[in-house]
Amino acid sequence: MGRLSLKLLVLLCLLLHLNPSCPYSLKSCTIAYTEDVLAGVVLDCTNRKLVTIPDDIPREANSVNLGCNRINRINRNDFGNLSKVRILFLYENNISHVDDGSFLHMVSLTRLYMSMNKLTNLTANLFQGLSELTLLDLSSNNIQLIHPLAFQFLSSLQTVKLDTNKLQQITDIQPILQLPHLHNLSISTNRFPSFETKDLLLNTSTSLKVLDVSYNVFERFSITTQIFPHLEMIDLSRCGQSAGFKWDITDKTLLKSITRLHFSHTLISFKDIQKVLQSLDSLMYLKLNYMDSWIHKGLLATVCKIPTLKRLDLCFNHVANLSAKLVTCSQLTELNLSCTDLTELSNGSILPMKQLRYLTVDTNLLTKVPDDIKSLSSLEILNLDDNLISELGCDDFLNTTRLTELYLNTNHISKLDSCVFEHLNHLKVLSISGNLLWTFGGAFKTGLHNLNILDVSKNFVASLDQGDFQGLGSLKYLDAVSNNIGRVKKGAFDGLKELKTLCVSLPLEFENNFRGLQQVENITMYFNSDVRFKGPQPNYHEALFCLKSLKTFTIICRGYHHGFPFDIPKEIVQSMNHLEEFTADNVYISVPDPDTFKFNPNLKTLTLRRTDLSALGPELFQPIPNLQTLDLSNTKLMSLDFLAQADLFALRRLTLTHNEITVINETIFQSLPALRYLDLNKNPFTCDCSNAGFIQWVKSDNQTQVVNGHEYTCSFPAAEQGNKLLDFDIQFCWIDVSFFCFILSTSIVLLTLLTAFILHFLRWHLVYTFYIFLSFLYDKKRRKRGTPHDYDAFISYNIHDEAWVYREMLPVLEGEQGWRLCLHHRDFQPGKPIIENITDAIYSCRKTICVISRRYLQSEWCSREIQMASFRLFDEQKDVLVLLFLEDIPAHQLSPYYRMRKLVKKRTYLSWLQAGQHKGVFWQNVWRALETGDDPADDTDLLTGPAGC
Ligand SMILES: *[C@@H]1O[C@H](CO)[C@@H](O)[C@H](O)[C@H]1NC(C)=O
Ligand SMILES: *[C@@H]1O[C@H](CO)[C@@H](O)[C@H](O)[C@H]1NC(C)=O
Ligand SMILES: *[C@@H]1O[C@H](CO)[C@@H](O)[C@H](O)[C@H]1NC(C)=O
Ligand SMILES: *[C@@H]1O[C@H](CO)[C@@H](O)[C@H](O)[C@H]1NC(C)=O
Ligand SMILES: *[C@@H]1O[C@H](CO)[C@@H](O)[C@H](O)[C@H]1NC(C)=O
Repeated sequence: MGRLSLKLLVLLCLLLHLNPSCPYSLKSCTIAYTEDVLAGVVLDCTNRKLVTIPDDIPREANSVNLGCNRINRINRNDFGNLSKVRILFLYENNISHVDDGSFLHMVSLTRLYMSMNKLTNLTANLFQGLSELTLLDLSSNNIQLIHPLAFQFLSSLQTVKLDTNKLQQITDIQPILQLPHLHNLSISTNRFPSFETKDLLLNTSTSLKVLDVSYNVFERFSITTQIFPHLEMIDLSRCGQSAGFKWDITDKTLLKSITRLHFSHTLISFKDIQKVLQSLDSLMYLKLNYMDSWIHKGLLATVCKIPTLKRLDLCFNHVANLSAKLVTCSQLTELNLSCTDLTELSNGSILPMKQLRYLTVDTNLLTKVPDDIKSLSSLEILNLDDNLISELGCDDFLNTTRLTELYLNTNHISKLDSCVFEHLNHLKVLSISGNLLWTFGGAFKTGLHNLNILDVSKNFVASLDQGDFQGLGSLKYLDAVSNNIGRVKKGAFDGLKELKTLCVSLPLEFENNFRGLQQVENITMYFNSDVRFKGPQPNYHEALFCLKSLKTFTIICRGYHHGFPFDIPKEIVQSMNHLEEFTADNVYISVPDPDTFKFNPNLKTLTLRRTDLSALGPELFQPIPNLQTLDLSNTKLMSLDFLAQADLFALRRLTLTHNEITVINETIFQSLPALRYLDLNKNPFTCDCSNAGFIQWVKSDNQTQVVNGHEYTCSFPAAEQGNKLLDFDIQFCWIDVSFFCFILSTSIVLLTLLTAFILHFLRWHLVYTFYIFLSFLYDKKRRKRGTPHDYDAFISYNIHDEAWVYREMLPVLEGEQGWRLCLHHRDFQPGKPIIENITDAIYSCRKTICVISRRYLQSEWCSREIQMASFRLFDEQKDVLVLLFLEDIPAHQLSPYYRMRKLVKKRTYLSWLQAGQHKGVFWQNVWRALETGDDPADDTDLLTGPAGC
């Protein structure tokens, strides 16, 4: 019976502890966290060494990324219940086989990425069920064979990528070309010996718009049928055999829709490419990369004659005087000359491009802004990044007044003059990061009235001076982060009336107050603590007081941090009443003052990183009940107990990586009812039963995702080191608990039963035992004192027999025989507890005489006196009891008084009635009984039970 109930109990415990509903901590995936509750469920399962599709992908997943794993086959039931997945990534695996119908239930799938696998055949039913699919990427497999019906189910497909496979025949792609909505087809790097439309047995035209046939070593590219009436773009990069491929499109009308053409490293004869370019009447965008020799030979003359051409990409062509060859391309609006080793744009080369709007000359060797640019008044976007420009002249941008974006990053510009940008009234974006600027030279004091974004980071300006940015009345974003800023003077940010976002390095010599920046909402501050500070403590405190509109405040201390002077006084944060996001990285040296966030009721995101929060308490969080995201990584936390009273009822995301947490009490999470995302990576967990509750919670909770929970490892005890936390067998812990439960409850039940039993059947035993114990104590006391007996006999009688006792007994025994008798009605000390009186009486008398009548038996026999006397009989092994019958009581009437019967049977007793007329003899017998003293009693049955009572 015990074993059965044990089993039942274990079962019950398991039922109570195992929650069968869908848990959120997945074995091999992370659910991406998003603030937006309505956003889809996005799963990241990349780089987990997975061999099979995980079986715990939640049903509601919308996007699943299983890329970069070792999955080698897809089984029919792998995606059984994933009917809501819209995007599935399976790239970089070893998939060589996919069961027919594996995707049958993925009715919502629109994009499937299976590049870099080992597929060889696309079978007829492979894609069954994917009627919503619009994109299919099968690049970099070993596909040799496509079943004619392989694409039969993919009626919504628009984009197909089959690059880098082993397709041999153009007819292989016939099933794809028949798709009704096909727009993009990539079949680069295959083994087509030629691309000839006459081989295709298609009687209808396709809807194809973009065709990528690059990197195919074919002999001939021939379009002779009306199958691509909508084709807009062809990529022929790296095509052709070494001798060049043959372009065979004689009918110009077959390519009437072509607007875009890519020739990059294409092996085609000069004559053929000229022919191609001449035959395209609607070409707008031409890419000619790595075509140095043909450009050298004069190809651009042909190019510039294409009247429709607007965009020309000439990247990676290392041709001397490249720009000079463009003189006739006056129709261009967009020109890309990146990576062409240009040292200059020869004068007048782009000048005729009166419509040029977008010019990219990045990654070249220009040492100054080309002269032609000065007068390109149509230019809107100019990219001069990554050149060798060392100086900007006042007339460099004199006539480019329509410029909206100017990029001058990563050059060698060391100074600016106030006149440089003064004509750029339309400029919205100016980026001049990564130069050698040591002064802004007043360049931002006048002009640039419409500038929105300015990046002057990573320069050598040592001091931000008063009014440095005062002309930038429209600026919304300023990045002035630089390790070299040593001073920020008073008024440095004056005039930035519209500034919303500021990223800045703050030096230790800080005279500025941010008084002009009351409208700024987002500040990121960097402190460089490596600088040895000798001067007075900077007054950040006062300075930062003015930032009343701040919503996002990020403060990051770089380098080794000694605390001083970066511990932010609480008053600063308190003054920012609108604060929603606060980040302090390597700033505090210990737990911030509990009042720090007292006046930031809107705080939603709090990040305190790289500090010592080992003494963190709940008080810090009490003023910010709306907190949704909390990041306390790298803060020496050892316990999560502070969360219990922190009242973070809205907290959704909690990051606690790189801490010293060993044991977590899962009841903590009851105080975080909104928690969805918990990251505890890099904590030294203890893998024993103290974490059993937490482990169980991680495995079963269906609301909170413990990010990568299955990767957490044990640090303690030594025997478990390196094992996975969630692999720790908690069953053992539960069984222990249930066993304990079992023992406890069984004991309680048995105890209750026993008590009931005792109370019911052995009540008197208990009472006697109690008395006996008392008398035992009394007797011990007495014997110690060696007191002689005060009386010869204690008379036990019923009140109804009192008359007899006084009339017949006392005169004889006391009067004639001279015994000293003790009668409780006469000799008991008043006021003394009755039980003490009785014990006293019995032990101070040598003998006890029981005057037995029917009434006595009914009322007194079970009395305390008799029990006490019985005990004495037992205790002292003396014959202390004298039985004196007043009435004749037949044996059968004695039977209820079991012990009495026994006594009567075993020893002589005296009967008053039987004495009749011979009263003298009777009293003589009594005298003898009283006189005999110390014979051992042979009857101890007196104590055996209450059966007679
Ligand atoms: C999550 O579990 C709780 C109880 O454990 C249950 O009431 C709730 O319905 C479950 N929710 C989901 C989405 O499974
Ligand atoms: C692929 O098809 C070829 C030709 O039909 C066949 O020989 C081969 O066994 C197939 N391979 C697989 C993996 O189905
Ligand atoms: C700038 O434009 C003005 C008027 O359009 C013209 O007179 C002047 O020559 C131009 N300057 C340069 C350097 O091209
Ligand atoms: C605040 O500015 C930083 C730096 O530009 C940016 O990364 C961040 O997204 C901005 N935050 C908000 C809420 O705009
Ligand atoms: C967990 O915390 C609760 C509430 O504070 C407490 O009653 C319980 O004993 C703790 N459990 C362990 C294993 O410490």
